[in-house]
Amino acid sequence: MEIIVQPTYAQLVAVSAEIIRDALLKKPNLVLGLATGSTPIGLYEALARMHKTDGLDFSEVITFNLDEYVGIPPNHPCSYHTFMEMHFFNAVNIRPENCHIPQSTAVAHEEFCERYEAAIVDAGGIDIQVLGIGKDGHIGFNEPSSSLGSRTRIKTLTQSTLEANAPHFGGVVDAVPKMAITMGVGTIMEAKQCLLLASGESKAEAISHAVEGPITAEVPASVLQMHPRTIMIIDEAAAWQLKRVDYYKQVYANKQKLLSQGH
Ligand code: F6R
Repeated sequence: MEIIVQPTYAQLVAVSAEIIRDALLKKPNLVLGLATGSTPIGLYEALARMHKTDGLDFSEVITFNLDEYVGIPPNHPCSYHTFMEMHFFNAVNIRPENCHIPQSTAVAHEEFCERYEAAIVDAGGIDIQVLGIGKDGHIGFNEPSSSLGSRTRIKTLTQSTLEANAPHFGGVVDAVPKMAITMGVGTIMEAKQCLLLASGESKAEAISHAVEGPITAEVPASVLQMHPRTIMIIDEAAAWQLKRVDYYKQVYANKQKLLSQGH
């Protein structure tokens, strides 16, 4: 795992946007796995700016979102469909037919989940999966105790996640849908690269468990220790509980030095 610690959220965003831009320049039909929530908003804004000012082209990009609430319609102001349109899709030249988001109803959900997995495979697999992390260590909506081999399915959200997401529902915890369709941990692990972003002190404990704790279903993000190409880009506030933070900074500084020397 590569841990990149940046002083601020703005710098975290800049580093993550550059990684995606460089990948997109190399592969115009990049397959992106996308997350919602507060953390990636800056990344989507940065990519939208790159599209507007430098003509970064998303016309061949294919996307698969991690998750969607069950029980609210796609056009609900708090749905992840609406979130993605608002924060990203409407701001770049991506084709609507190339954007995949889990459905928001539980009707025939098992078939839907199978088709979602099959569509990812048909697209050639996810090249870069953008992830956030919950305070309880979840990735996607794979809450603690999720099987580390799980596939796309319906999950019940924990109280901690309902409370964390309540601000998007007018601060009313009861208004947050109790279930979601989410890619499984096993689905996420099949992405060729994972890019996990975390910002703020409230994520520090989850990050320390995910990076330096044991691999356990109690902290689903800890499974990323087994992923061959995961980069975690975190700010100082999210990094403060890491024991080896100086080492991670040294590794990154050395890598940058080699890159600047043309290696
Ligand atoms: C959302 C998702 C979740 C969030 C996590 C952190 O698509 O996959 O795992 O990434 O709940 O959310 P924020 O960024 O709002 O702290």
